[in-house]
Amino acid sequence: MASPATPPDLMEAIVSLCKRRGFVFQSSEIYGGLNGFFDYGPLGAELKKNIRDCWWNDMVRRRDDIVGIESSIIMHPKVWQASGHVAGFTDPLVDCKVSKQRYRADQLFFAQVEIAEAEILPADAGAAQTAKIKIVGYVSALESENTAADLQQRAEEFKRKKAIRGQLMQVKPRDMTEAKPEEISLIPSPATGEPGSLTPPRAFNMMFETYVGALRDASAIAYLRPETAQGMFADFKGVVDTGRVKLPFGIAQIGKSFRNEITPRNFIFRSREFEQMEMEYFIHEDADWAKCHREWIDWCRNWLISIGLPASHLSEYNHPKEKLAFYSKGTTDIMFRYPFGVQELWGVAARGNYDLTQHANASGVPQVIFDEATKKKFTPHVIEPAVGVDRILLAVLCAGYIEDEAPDEKGKLEKRTVLRFSPRIAPVKVAVLPLVKNKPELVKRAEELHARLKRRYAVFYDEGGAIGRRYRRQDEIGTPWCVTIDFETIETDGSFTLRDRDTMAQTRINEAELFALLEKEVY
Ligand code: GAP
Repeated sequence: MASPATPPDLMEAIVSLCKRRGFVFQSSEIYGGLNGFFDYGPLGAELKKNIRDCWWNDMVRRRDDIVGIESSIIMHPKVWQASGHVAGFTDPLVDCKVSKQRYRADQLFFAQVEIAEAEILPADAGAAQTAKIKIVGYVSALESENTAADLQQRAEEFKRKKAIRGQLMQVKPRDMTEAKPEEISLIPSPATGEPGSLTPPRAFNMMFETYVGALRDASAIAYLRPETAQGMFADFKGVVDTGRVKLPFGIAQIGKSFRNEITPRNFIFRSREFEQMEMEYFIHEDADWAKCHREWIDWCRNWLISIGLPASHLSEYNHPKEKLAFYSKGTTDIMFRYPFGVQELWGVAARGNYDLTQHANASGVPQVIFDEATKKKFTPHVIEPAVGVDRILLAVLCAGYIEDEAPDEKGKLEKRTVLRFSPRIAPVKVAVLPLVKNKPELVKRAEELHARLKRRYAVFYDEGGAIGRRYRRQDEIGTPWCVTIDFETIETDGSFTLRDRDTMAQTRINEAELFALLEKEVY
């Protein structure tokens, strides 16, 4: 039997499986789709709900120090002025005037094509620095896993096409935010391959605007929230006044956020409508924020592992001090190894007391806590773990997808696609399969078991087709177990076959043991 393997184009395989089995569709597909928007089909909606529920249970219900809220998507526009989003929630945008394509400047890379003139290179190695280096042109490439290699290849093509003699130097990639004004017109557009059409980067605000009420003037402008976090800050006083909370404590929320991303890409990784799970953990102004920050990074990492992401795919990235906002004390991203590169999955930021202070100043309503020890009021500091549900969903698909082989009814090996989801998040926990559908006693027993299981769990009943084929259908959607009601079930002790998705091992189990297994594994 072939050992489990991932296909060379894993993303293509995942996108195709998602469409085929009803996990994720393009939004408004019948009209050609809308870039950056996605719909979740029956299995995707279950998977997403399970991710949300696991997070909510672990983050809110199973802790004594965190409460949950649900704030509105459209909030008073002053919230976004105070938070700094109206002025500063921007990405640098570059236009191609010819193709009308738009690029995020920090994702559009370029390099000079530099040639060391061979004829003046000294014969002895090591003296290359004395050679004359000439810039003969520019190449560009969109950010990818291999940006430097792509640029090098384009530089080689450039040299070959223009029949330039001499030795091509190693390219030094820079992104468009680092381009000098005099370089802009020399950099080719990735769309046309020709220079002269790219604009200098300009700030593009990513918030979606709308109007509230019957008037359509500036006074009616409101925004679809670009993050859920501001809901927790705006409701801080409400929770403190009513929630009997005491420091340290957190306010958590799950909900949709909207960003007019310049370049939505990589399937559901970066979209324009997505879902966030954020928590603001308020601590004393004198508390050891670095320790608390570390504890939350560890908590998030362990939680990802608890829903089935392999530790080997996770890493950490500390934002360099010079790139942090002035109020930020530190931000660490938990990174995941997606097929298209190592990318941010979960950001954990130490934001000081910036947000509450901003809202206190803008609203005139103090955002403080009374310190019993010092008898003084102060504004708490905050640690903010913020993650996207869609990004987790993509990560579990990428980590779980494998292809191997399994014997069919006649013992012939055939290809098997498996989604190795943790039972915690699998859309279907158990499939109930009567061995054959033309034996009423078997079918009746299977239907009864199915009815009892579905009161508590998402289960699936399937009586159509050969048993091996039915197993395969469940493997492909990540169902951890199948139970088969066979003749032994009705003729002897009522036990049935439990078949494990990953090992394909089959054991006998009775109903009480099945419920105990589910109770232990699905939590
Ligand atoms: N309140 C902080 C905040 O929103 P962020 O890093 O902009 O921080 C947090 O977003 C998380 O939300 C990201 O780590 C990512 O998981 C998810 N996210 C952000 N933009 C996204 C997008 N366009 N599509 C999908 N998920 C996104």
